[in-house]
Amino acid sequence: MKFYLDSAIVDEIRYALDMWNIDGVTSNPRHVRNSGKPFLVAIRDIAELFKGTDKPISVEVNPHYTTADEMVAEALKLAAMSPNFVIKIPATESGFKACWTLTDKGIRVNLTLVFSAAQALQAARMGAAYVSPFVGWKEANGEEASHLVAEIVRIYRNYEYKTEIIVAAVRNARQIVEAAVVGAHIVTTSLDVYKDAFDHPYTAKGLKLFADNWDATPYK
Ligand code: E4P
Repeated sequence: MKFYLDSAIVDEIRYALDMWNIDGVTSNPRHVRNSGKPFLVAIRDIAELFKGTDKPISVEVNPHYTTADEMVAEALKLAAMSPNFVIKIPATESGFKACWTLTDKGIRVNLTLVFSAAQALQAARMGAAYVSPFVGWKEANGEEASHLVAEIVRIYRNYEYKTEIIVAAVRNARQIVEAAVVGAHIVTTSLDVYKDAFDHPYTAKGLKLFADNWDATPYK
């Protein structure tokens, strides 16, 4: 399974690359805002970090755009900026049309804001390279989300779609593991969620126990 970092903050991305060899980055307008930089500066800085690698960076089109033409025009500009850029397009009627048009032109699309298996199926039909079901948002809304990912995995296998599933808005280790158990390709989450997920209190407790015993034992 691949791990992407959900962030537009260069220091966080550098850390995730250096410590965990992160496989890619996803961003959205909120992440870009949190970077404190103008949009184009923020995404250029991330592209610079990944220059010469084949790691994808998802960047989102202006969320005010409502027509496929507007989305396609901006997507083409963004895609021309870096070979690493994958264009995030929302799962709206116009977004699906834009996805199809862009895929036809060889541009990789990440269909975002996906909350149902029907949307994920349509994303695959329209040739999306990636689909992003937002499991954390679904659970925050009181909806069960792990079945959604399992259904998407099954549908894609049934029809041999090549679209990769990015389980997004992941909030904890359990959601990472559930995504892996059902066979999703990728998870994306924040630096803090990964740090918590890679840690367990018993690891530190065990290390302390072993260190105390080590100290109480002659070496030679
Ligand atoms: C992923 O591509 C999304 O940008 C992200 O997971 C959205 O969720 P958030 O609420 O964690 O930002």
